[in-house]
Amino acid sequence: MSGSSLPVRRVAGALGAEISGVDLSADLSDETIAAIRNALVEHQVIFFRGQNLTPAQQVAFGRRFGPLNIHPYVAGMPDHPEVMEIVKEPEDKVNFGGGWHSDMSFLAEPSIGSILYAVEIPEYGGDTLFASQAAAYEALSPGLKATLEGLNAVHSANREYSSSGHSAQKRKSMQVVEAEGMAGEAVHPVVLVHPESGRKALYVNPAFTERFEGWSRRDSRPLLDYLFQHSRNEAFTCRFRWEPGSVAFWDNRQVWHYALNDYPGQRRHMRRVTVDPQPARVRLAAAG
Ligand code: SIN
Repeated sequence: MSGSSLPVRRVAGALGAEISGVDLSADLSDETIAAIRNALVEHQVIFFRGQNLTPAQQVAFGRRFGPLNIHPYVAGMPDHPEVMEIVKEPEDKVNFGGGWHSDMSFLAEPSIGSILYAVEIPEYGGDTLFASQAAAYEALSPGLKATLEGLNAVHSANREYSSSGHSAQKRKSMQVVEAEGMAGEAVHPVVLVHPESGRKALYVNPAFTERFEGWSRRDSRPLLDYLFQHSRNEAFTCRFRWEPGSVAFWDNRQVWHYALNDYPGQRRHMRRVTVDPQPARVRLAAAG
Protein backbone atom coordinates (compact mmCIF):
# COMPACT_ATOMS: atom_id res chain seq x y z
CA MET A 1 0.00 0.00 0.00
CA SER A 2 1.25 3.48 -0.73
CA GLY A 3 2.25 5.31 2.45
CA SER A 4 0.92 8.62 1.27
CA SER A 5 -2.61 7.23 0.95
CA LEU A 6 -3.11 5.91 4.49
CA PRO A 7 -6.78 6.27 5.37
CA VAL A 8 -6.90 8.27 8.61
CA ARG A 9 -10.06 9.06 10.61
CA ARG A 10 -9.76 11.47 13.54
CA VAL A 11 -11.49 10.36 16.72
CA ALA A 12 -11.50 13.55 18.84
CA GLY A 13 -10.74 17.25 18.64
CA ALA A 14 -7.42 17.33 20.51
CA LEU A 15 -5.77 14.05 19.50
CA GLY A 16 -6.25 10.54 18.20
CA ALA A 17 -6.84 8.99 14.77
CA GLU A 18 -7.74 5.54 13.53
CA ILE A 19 -5.80 4.23 10.54
CA SER A 20 -7.24 1.50 8.35
CA GLY A 21 -5.93 -0.68 5.54
CA VAL A 22 -2.51 -1.51 7.05
CA ASP A 23 -1.40 -4.98 8.13
CA LEU A 24 1.20 -4.35 10.85
CA SER A 25 2.47 -7.94 10.66
CA ALA A 26 3.66 -7.39 7.06
CA ASP A 27 7.07 -6.20 5.92
CA LEU A 28 5.86 -2.63 5.34
CA SER A 29 7.57 -0.31 2.86
CA ASP A 30 9.69 2.59 4.14
CA GLU A 31 7.08 4.91 2.66
CA THR A 32 4.28 3.34 4.73
CA ILE A 33 6.42 3.45 7.90
CA ALA A 34 7.14 7.14 7.23
CA ALA A 35 3.41 7.79 6.78
CA ILE A 36 2.63 6.01 10.07
CA ARG A 37 5.32 8.05 11.82
CA ASN A 38 3.95 11.30 10.38
CA ALA A 39 0.44 10.32 11.51
CA LEU A 40 1.79 9.56 15.01
CA VAL A 41 3.49 12.94 15.30
CA GLU A 42 0.45 14.78 13.92
CA HIS A 43 -2.33 12.93 15.79
CA GLN A 44 -0.24 12.04 18.89
CA VAL A 45 -1.94 8.64 19.28
CA ILE A 46 -2.98 6.38 16.41
CA PHE A 47 -5.14 3.26 16.44
CA PHE A 48 -5.34 0.17 14.23
CA ARG A 49 -7.96 -2.57 14.39
CA GLY A 50 -8.15 -6.21 13.34
CA GLN A 51 -4.42 -6.93 13.62
CA ASN A 52 -2.91 -10.35 14.26
CA LEU A 53 0.57 -9.91 15.72
CA THR A 54 2.94 -12.49 17.17
CA PRO A 55 5.39 -11.05 19.73
CA ALA A 56 8.16 -11.31 17.08
CA GLN A 57 6.03 -9.35 14.57
CA GLN A 58 5.27 -6.67 17.18
CA VAL A 59 9.01 -6.37 17.88
CA ALA A 60 9.78 -6.14 14.14
CA PHE A 61 7.14 -3.42 13.65
CA GLY A 62 8.36 -1.46 16.70
CA ARG A 63 12.00 -1.60 15.54
CA ARG A 64 11.08 0.24 12.36
CA PHE A 65 10.70 3.35 14.59
CA GLY A 66 13.81 2.99 16.75
CA PRO A 67 15.53 0.71 19.27
CA LEU A 68 13.17 -1.02 21.69
CA ASN A 69 13.37 -0.45 25.41
CA ILE A 70 13.91 -3.25 27.91
CA HIS A 71 11.96 -2.15 30.96
CA PRO A 72 14.16 -1.84 34.05
CA TYR A 73 11.43 -2.92 36.48
CA VAL A 74 9.03 -5.16 34.56
CA ALA A 75 10.18 -8.50 33.17
CA GLY A 76 9.66 -9.00 29.44
CA MET A 77 8.67 -12.25 27.72
CA PRO A 78 11.38 -14.94 28.07
CA ASP A 79 12.05 -15.07 24.30
CA HIS A 80 11.31 -11.39 23.68
CA PRO A 81 12.63 -9.27 26.57
CA GLU A 82 11.41 -6.09 24.80
CA VAL A 83 7.78 -7.26 25.03
CA MET A 84 6.01 -6.53 28.31
CA GLU A 85 2.90 -8.56 29.02
CA ILE A 86 0.39 -6.29 30.73
CA VAL A 87 -2.02 -8.63 32.46
CA LYS A 88 -4.84 -8.14 34.92
CA GLU A 89 -6.17 -11.45 36.21
CA PRO A 90 -9.81 -11.71 37.35
CA GLU A 91 -8.71 -11.81 41.00
CA ASP A 92 -6.36 -8.77 40.71
CA LYS A 93 -7.54 -5.55 42.29
CA VAL A 94 -4.91 -3.20 40.82
CA ASN A 95 -4.14 -2.72 37.13
CA PHE A 96 -0.90 -1.63 35.47
CA GLY A 97 -0.92 1.93 34.14
CA GLY A 98 -4.02 2.90 36.13
CA GLY A 99 -3.12 6.57 36.56
CA TRP A 100 -2.15 9.43 34.25
CA HIS A 101 1.43 9.09 33.06
CA SER A 102 3.83 9.24 30.18
CA ASP A 103 5.82 6.01 29.81
CA MET A 104 9.43 5.94 30.99
CA SER A 105 9.77 9.69 31.68
CA PHE A 106 12.18 8.66 34.47
CA LEU A 107 14.78 7.75 31.81
CA ALA A 108 17.41 10.20 30.60
CA GLU A 109 15.80 10.71 27.17
CA PRO A 110 12.04 10.89 26.53
CA SER A 111 10.66 7.73 24.94
CA ILE A 112 9.41 8.08 21.37
CA GLY A 113 6.31 6.00 21.82
CA SER A 114 4.62 2.84 23.04
CA ILE A 115 2.86 0.26 20.90
CA LEU A 116 0.17 -1.67 22.77
CA TYR A 117 -1.50 -4.75 21.25
CA ALA A 118 -4.69 -6.24 22.70
CA VAL A 119 -4.68 -10.02 23.15
CA GLU A 120 -7.66 -10.49 25.49
CA ILE A 121 -10.17 -7.79 26.39
CA PRO A 122 -12.91 -7.82 29.05
CA GLU A 123 -16.50 -7.95 27.88
CA TYR A 124 -16.91 -4.39 29.12
CA GLY A 125 -14.51 -1.78 30.49
CA GLY A 126 -10.71 -1.66 30.23
CA ASP A 127 -10.62 1.32 27.83
CA THR A 128 -7.54 3.54 27.73
CA LEU A 129 -7.71 7.34 27.99
CA PHE A 130 -5.21 9.64 26.31
CA ALA A 131 -4.58 13.34 26.98
CA SER A 132 -2.75 15.72 24.66
CA GLN A 133 -0.06 17.58 26.56
CA ALA A 134 0.48 19.77 23.52
CA ALA A 135 -3.14 20.97 23.76
CA ALA A 136 -2.71 21.35 27.53
CA TYR A 137 0.34 23.56 27.03
CA GLU A 138 -1.33 25.65 24.33
CA ALA A 139 -4.32 26.38 26.61
CA LEU A 140 -2.15 28.00 29.32
CA SER A 141 -1.92 31.78 29.67
CA PRO A 142 1.16 33.47 28.14
CA GLY A 143 2.56 34.35 31.58
CA LEU A 144 2.48 30.79 32.87
CA LYS A 145 3.88 29.48 29.58
CA ALA A 146 6.82 31.87 29.94
CA THR A 147 7.43 30.80 33.56
CA LEU A 148 7.32 27.10 32.69
CA GLU A 149 9.68 27.48 29.76
CA GLY A 150 12.43 28.42 32.18
CA LEU A 151 11.95 25.33 34.35
CA ASN A 152 13.22 21.77 34.38
CA ALA A 153 11.61 18.95 36.36
CA VAL A 154 13.04 15.93 38.11
CA HIS A 155 11.46 12.55 37.25
CA SER A 156 11.99 9.26 39.07
CA ALA A 157 10.55 5.72 39.07
CA ASN A 158 10.96 5.47 42.82
CA ARG A 159 7.42 6.25 43.93
CA GLU A 160 5.69 4.15 41.27
CA TYR A 161 7.90 1.06 41.52
CA SER A 162 8.86 1.21 45.23
CA SER A 163 7.34 -1.36 47.61
CA SER A 164 4.24 0.79 48.22
CA GLY A 165 3.97 2.08 44.62
CA HIS A 166 1.04 1.50 42.29
CA SER A 167 2.93 -0.59 39.73
CA ALA A 168 4.67 -2.61 42.42
CA GLN A 169 1.27 -3.97 43.42
CA LYS A 170 1.32 -5.80 40.08
CA ARG A 171 4.38 -7.75 41.23
CA LYS A 172 2.65 -11.13 41.18
CA SER A 173 0.89 -11.19 37.82
CA MET A 174 3.52 -9.16 35.93
CA GLN A 175 6.86 -9.81 37.65
CA VAL A 176 7.45 -6.20 38.62
CA VAL A 177 10.71 -5.72 40.54
CA GLU A 178 11.21 -3.16 43.29
CA ALA A 179 12.87 0.14 42.44
CA GLU A 180 13.65 1.34 45.95
CA GLY A 181 17.23 2.43 46.28
CA MET A 182 18.01 1.69 42.65
CA ALA A 183 16.04 4.17 40.57
CA GLY A 184 17.96 7.14 39.25
CA GLU A 185 16.53 10.55 38.52
CA ALA A 186 16.19 12.22 35.13
CA VAL A 187 15.84 15.93 34.50
CA HIS A 188 13.71 17.16 31.59
CA PRO A 189 12.44 20.56 30.48
CA VAL A 190 8.89 21.17 31.70
CA VAL A 191 8.00 22.33 28.19
CA LEU A 192 9.31 19.84 25.67
CA VAL A 193 9.79 20.97 22.09
CA HIS A 194 8.85 18.02 19.91
CA PRO A 195 12.01 17.05 18.00
CA GLU A 196 10.04 16.19 14.84
CA SER A 197 7.23 18.77 14.69
CA GLY A 198 8.61 21.62 16.82
CA ARG A 199 5.26 21.69 18.68
CA LYS A 200 5.55 22.40 22.40
CA ALA A 201 4.00 20.15 25.06
CA LEU A 202 3.97 19.94 28.84
CA TYR A 203 6.31 17.16 29.98
CA VAL A 204 5.44 16.53 33.63
CA ASN A 205 3.18 13.73 34.87
CA PRO A 206 1.67 12.58 38.19
CA ALA A 207 3.35 9.15 38.22
CA PHE A 208 6.98 10.10 37.74
CA THR A 209 7.52 13.86 38.19
CA GLU A 210 8.81 14.59 41.69
CA ARG A 211 9.63 18.30 41.73
CA PHE A 212 11.04 21.21 39.76
CA GLU A 213 14.81 21.28 39.50
CA GLY A 214 16.21 23.57 42.22
CA TRP A 215 12.86 23.56 44.09
CA SER A 216 11.96 21.46 47.14
CA ARG A 217 9.14 18.93 46.87
CA ARG A 218 7.02 21.16 49.12
CA ASP A 219 7.55 24.25 46.99
CA SER A 220 6.90 22.27 43.80
CA ARG A 221 3.62 20.70 44.95
CA PRO A 222 1.10 23.52 44.33
CA LEU A 223 2.26 24.27 40.77
CA LEU A 224 2.63 20.59 39.87
CA ASP A 225 -0.85 19.88 41.23
CA TYR A 226 -2.24 22.77 39.21
CA LEU A 227 -0.61 21.44 36.03
CA PHE A 228 -1.77 17.86 36.68
CA GLN A 229 -5.31 19.10 37.20
CA HIS A 230 -5.21 21.29 34.09
CA SER A 231 -3.62 18.66 31.85
CA ARG A 232 -6.38 16.10 32.24
CA ASN A 233 -9.20 18.45 31.22
CA GLU A 234 -11.68 16.44 29.09
CA ALA A 235 -11.15 18.83 26.16
CA PHE A 236 -7.62 17.48 25.77
CA THR A 237 -8.57 13.77 25.84
CA CYS A 238 -9.75 10.87 23.73
CA ARG A 239 -10.82 7.38 24.77
CA PHE A 240 -10.12 4.07 23.03
CA ARG A 241 -12.41 1.04 23.26
CA TRP A 242 -10.28 -2.05 22.68
CA GLU A 243 -11.12 -5.21 20.76
CA PRO A 244 -8.81 -8.23 20.52
CA GLY A 245 -6.34 -7.36 17.74
CA SER A 246 -6.50 -3.58 18.32
CA VAL A 247 -3.23 -1.64 18.45
CA ALA A 248 -2.62 1.81 19.94
CA PHE A 249 0.64 3.64 19.20
CA TRP A 250 1.12 6.80 21.27
CA ASP A 251 3.80 9.47 21.32
CA ASN A 252 5.14 9.69 24.88
CA ARG A 253 6.64 13.11 24.18
CA GLN A 254 3.21 14.73 23.85
CA VAL A 255 0.62 12.38 25.35
CA TRP A 256 -0.38 11.06 28.76
CA HIS A 257 -2.42 7.87 29.06
CA TYR A 258 -4.52 6.12 31.70
CA ALA A 259 -5.61 2.47 31.71
CA LEU A 260 -9.09 2.33 33.25
CA ASN A 261 -9.66 -0.27 35.96
CA ASP A 262 -13.41 -0.81 35.62
CA TYR A 263 -13.75 -4.53 34.84
CA PRO A 264 -13.56 -6.40 38.19
CA GLY A 265 -13.52 -10.19 37.89
CA GLN A 266 -12.48 -10.17 34.21
CA ARG A 267 -9.15 -10.78 32.51
CA ARG A 268 -7.32 -8.26 30.31
CA HIS A 269 -4.12 -9.16 28.48
CA MET A 270 -2.03 -6.73 26.40
CA ARG A 271 1.50 -6.72 24.99
CA ARG A 272 3.59 -3.53 24.86
CA VAL A 273 6.82 -2.52 23.21
CA THR A 274 8.30 0.92 23.83
CA VAL A 275 10.46 2.76 21.31
CA ASP A 276 13.56 4.50 22.64
CA PRO A 277 15.12 7.50 20.92
CA GLN A 278 18.05 6.71 18.65
CA PRO A 279 21.35 6.82 20.57
CA ALA A 280 23.06 10.19 20.09
CA ARG A 281 25.90 8.68 18.04
CA VAL A 282 23.49 7.17 15.52
CA ARG A 283 21.59 10.45 15.28
CA LEU A 284 24.78 12.35 14.53
CA ALA A 285 25.84 9.80 11.90
CA ALA A 286 22.39 9.98 10.28
CA ALA A 287 22.67 13.75 10.13
CA GLY A 288 25.99 13.33 8.34
C1 SIN B 1 0.35 1.31 29.98
O1 SIN B 1 0.37 2.20 30.81
O2 SIN B 1 1.26 1.15 29.18
C2 SIN B 1 -0.85 0.39 29.91
C3 SIN B 1 -1.97 0.97 29.14
C4 SIN B 1 -3.12 0.01 29.04
O3 SIN B 1 -3.00 -1.14 29.45
O4 SIN B 1 -4.16 0.43 28.53
